[in-house]
Amino acid sequence: MGHEMWSADLYEKNARFVSDLGGDVLAWLNPRAGERILDLGCGDGALTAEIVAAGSVVVGIDSSTDMVAAALKRGVDARIGDAMSLSFDAEFDAVFTNAALHWAPRAEAVAAGVVRALRPGGRFVAEFGGFGNVAAIRTALTAVLASDYGIETDLKDVWYFPTPDEYAAVCARAGLSVERIELIPRPTPIGSDMTQWLETLAAPALAMLPSESQVAAREKAARLLAPALRDESGQWTADYSRLRLSATLAGTPT
Ligand code: BEZ
Repeated sequence: MGHEMWSADLYEKNARFVSDLGGDVLAWLNPRAGERILDLGCGDGALTAEIVAAGSVVVGIDSSTDMVAAALKRGVDARIGDAMSLSFDAEFDAVFTNAALHWAPRAEAVAAGVVRALRPGGRFVAEFGGFGNVAAIRTALTAVLASDYGIETDLKDVWYFPTPDEYAAVCARAGLSVERIELIPRPTPIGSDMTQWLETLAAPALAMLPSESQVAAREKAARLLAPALRDESGQWTADYSRLRLSATLAGTPT
């Protein structure tokens, strides 16, 4: 995950569903005992710990010191690092990542680092926000930023949500062979209020505003979103869409 503004406590309160939903991509990874696996954007290590439990030797990296501290507490070998500037060299049987790469808009730099980190025949298994992800939420935020604060932004430097074709091309250019890539609409009950979701997961977008304006901006965006995303019982469902892929680096595993 991407930002110093990440708080492991806020994540636990407002975004635990993100790692809880990582089971499908973990099944695609199919970690095996003794494999060396790099987890990009390991967050607080909840999913990383499941890879460790499979018997793999896992290194997690995350750019948030708070998240790395939380992952270390779980016993995960977690280190501060940025997915866009990886420095591993032919060290891993697999690179895994869940719900992190939408924070890394320089996709070519990520893919180049993944390729460098993998051993010949190594695999890259990833899930993150795909095209159309949180479309309503993004539209509400861009509308509030533009109409109330005069900030024109498409938020493309905050969130990266590529189509399968676009991302398959990124992988191919880096030298990865994509075996499976899917765009999966996944409306997701968020288990909290939309203003709390925005506080945790739209923090970098809201950081374009002075802190004294952020509460009002969150409340306005939530009001705009309620007719689309809040049901009659008050439950919010975010309009998530996941890009999930599995790719390999040419060569024979050693
Ligand atoms: C996501 O997991 O899809 C996501 C997280 C934060 C902001 C936007 C999307």
